[in-house]
Amino acid sequence: MNGVPERRMAQAAGFGRVGLVIGGDSAEREVSLNGGRAVAAALERNGIDHEVFDGPMALFEGIRAGRVDRVFNLLHGPGGEDGSLQGALQLMDVPVTGADLASSALTMDKVRSKWVWERNGILTPPFAVLQGPDMDGRDAIHSLGLPLFVKPAGLGSSIGVSRVENDEELETAIALARRYSPIVLVEKAIEGGEYFAGILGRTSLPLIRVETPRAFYDYTAKYESDDTRYDCPCGLPAAVEDGLREQALRAFDLLGASGWGRVDFLLDDEGQAWFLEVNTTPGMTDHSLVPQAAAEMGIGFDELVWLILETSL
Ligand SMILES: Nc1ncnc2c1ncn2[C@@H]1O[C@H](COP(=O)(O)OP(=O)(O)O)[C@@H](O)[C@H]1O
Ligand SMILES: [Mg+2]
Repeated sequence: MNGVPERRMAQAAGFGRVGLVIGGDSAEREVSLNGGRAVAAALERNGIDHEVFDGPMALFEGIRAGRVDRVFNLLHGPGGEDGSLQGALQLMDVPVTGADLASSALTMDKVRSKWVWERNGILTPPFAVLQGPDMDGRDAIHSLGLPLFVKPAGLGSSIGVSRVENDEELETAIALARRYSPIVLVEKAIEGGEYFAGILGRTSLPLIRVETPRAFYDYTAKYESDDTRYDCPCGLPAAVEDGLREQALRAFDLLGASGWGRVDFLLDDEGQAWFLEVNTTPGMTDHSLVPQAAAEMGIGFDELVWLILETSL
């Protein structure tokens, strides 16, 4: 589980022509474009024949024109990370990096992910689901207590996510989440540390601990702020970290994810891990989490891109 993954493909030419798909029209477009530039540069340095496509439709045209043998998927959010692209490529018989249709759809849905985990001994923060025309979160406050987190059931990059400290903030938070998804997840806040486990093949990468002076790891803390702190090594005793890396891989496997990804969890003051979500196309700028964790293992960015591309073989 903790071993350094080894190359299976010896030569760049073995990959054929790679279609790198980035951008798209989800709310995470900008994040994808940034990572896409870094990945394209790494493919270039690796000598891998590639073409960059903005969004699935452009990619499909490239495939139809016979210019793509396999796909490096770096789309985030709905339309790229939710199974639809994976399903279309499966029908066209074009291999793609990362998780398959079913698992992409499941991991994109935070509510159903939590149901699977709860049933299988992976702890996830207690929650309530709001949907339909009448979204009243007051019952959730009663059953879960404050503070709470309110989020759209299917998105990422902390878009539409709020921390709610009191009754008054709840309505605004629900309205915000609802702009991005008809299903809103209300979750009990876990106080403690925030950790991320990158997964590459069957390897659970060294954990990264993230700390921010902001109320939580929101969009600004993720992409804009200079005061977000990333610790890797994460500072936990080795045996504790190993146990958590193993749990993260199990959480990943339970949702059927494969190839690569990132598992987000919180560690409370008693040392209990509470799992939030699995991302099947995590950020890939050179300061993103998975690249940082891979670097800690001695895997540079170009090698990481190579190994991720191998997940399409
Ligand atoms: N239950 C919770 N308790 C504490 N912090 C949370 C909780 N849920 C979310 N957060 C904070 O919000 C961030 C985004 O939530 P997450 O569920 O990972 O959604 P996203 O897909 O947008 O990353 C997390 O990284 C964390 O900082
Ligand atoms: Mg997250």
